[in-house]
Amino acid sequence: MFIIKIANIEDIPNIQECIKRNLPLYFSCLELYHLYFTGSKFIIIKHDNKIIGVLLGDKQNQDEFYISSLSVDAEYRRLNLATTMINNLTYKKIYLHVKADNQIAINFYKKNNFHAIQFIKDYYGYFNDFKVRDAYLLEKIN
Ligand SMILES: CC(C)(COP(=O)(O)OP(=O)(O)OC[C@H]1O[C@@H](n2cnc3c(N)ncnc32)[C@H](O)[C@@H]1OP(=O)(O)O)[C@@H](O)C(=O)NCCC(=O)NCCS
Repeated sequence: MFIIKIANIEDIPNIQECIKRNLPLYFSCLELYHLYFTGSKFIIIKHDNKIIGVLLGDKQNQDEFYISSLSVDAEYRRLNLATTMINNLTYKKIYLHVKADNQIAINFYKKNNFHAIQFIKDYYGYFNDFKVRDAYLLEKIN
């Protein structure tokens, strides 16, 4: 059974592990605690008491929400879990950056009615070993 919920502070280390399993760029626990205490929203999916999906982001104002991280463990993908997390957000505008070569994520967001509003060259800069460092700014208006 899958359970979707808002995370507690005790979930932070397992959230960090989950993000780390799924994304090349991830937060340290220290950063995640800071985000938690400064009001970021953490939506998680648990399966057999293990965190297997995370959506992390921030309310920018009454109507807008920025997603800074979204992932689901490989063995649980294509089960609509990321869609369920996105659908938990009840904001007029939801937006995020996605790596320009992350075609699976781009397909996912397209299916969920996001569209590209900007292409940003070198968004990820030169501090990492990405071959493609560009990103799209995607948004969805509800
Ligand atoms: C992107 C990601 C979060 C999607 O999670 P998910 O739970 O598998 O997504 P869903 O099951 O809700 O997918 C919904 C739709 O997205 C699209 N989609 C998802 N995975 C896809 C894939 N591998 N290939 C093509 N389309 C895909 C499909 O249209 C799918 O609908 P369908 O299954 O009816 O065809 C997941 O693949 C992931 O964690 N990837 C690694 C981390 C990452 O890149 N995160 C995004 C960073 S911006």
